[in-house]
Amino acid sequence: MRRARRADLALIWPATLQTVWDDLPEDERAGLDRRTWENHFRKKIEAFVEGNRTERWIAEGPSGETLGYVILGESGFLTPETHAFLYDIWVAPDHRDKGVGKALVDWASNWARERGHRKIKLEVGEGNERARHVYESLGFRAERRYMGKPLK
Ligand SMILES: CC(C)(COP(=O)(O)OP(=O)(O)OC[C@H]1O[C@@H](n2cnc3c(N)ncnc32)[C@H](O)[C@@H]1OP(=O)(O)O)[C@@H](O)C(=O)NCCC(=O)NCCS
Repeated sequence: MRRARRADLALIWPATLQTVWDDLPEDERAGLDRRTWENHFRKKIEAFVEGNRTERWIAEGPSGETLGYVILGESGFLTPETHAFLYDIWVAPDHRDKGVGKALVDWASNWARERGHRKIKLEVGEGNERARHVYESLGFRAERRYMGKPLK
């Protein structure tokens, strides 16, 4: 694992935007122009993707190839205690289903433990079954449900 460099943003930005786009509820995505949405959302997450709200860590393979990355930081809303937050995780398509994702989540949990956190949290789309499987198999459990109802 190594810290992300400026040059890694060329990979991180499109991958993160694609992940969020894919996880948008179908009815919301249907009414959106991709470019308009990207312009809007880039501004919202800039501090997390390249600013000081998070740390970005890259997983490299033996030949220096990028296997994936995690974006990690803190969050706290319901209680005064902050917890670690896994803002994003991504594995290069050619390296999926080989255990890299689980290794990255474990690494993120250690990162959080070393910083004194008692808990690590994350958010995942209901329809992202592979990611949910990864998290649940490593002990993450749903705590609150984010609900929506399209109004006609
Ligand atoms: C989610 C992601 C990080 C997982 O990384 P990965 O390297 O493929 O994960 P692993 O190989 O460690 O584990 C994959 C697990 O999912 C399972 N899996 C694969 N496809 C699945 C599916 N459609 N539904 C449920 N489980 C699935 C695999 O069998 C494996 O589980 P097992 O080890 O218990 O058999 C990766 O797929 C990814 O980058 N996806 C796009 C970005 C994304 O969605 N990020 C999460 C945002 S919340």
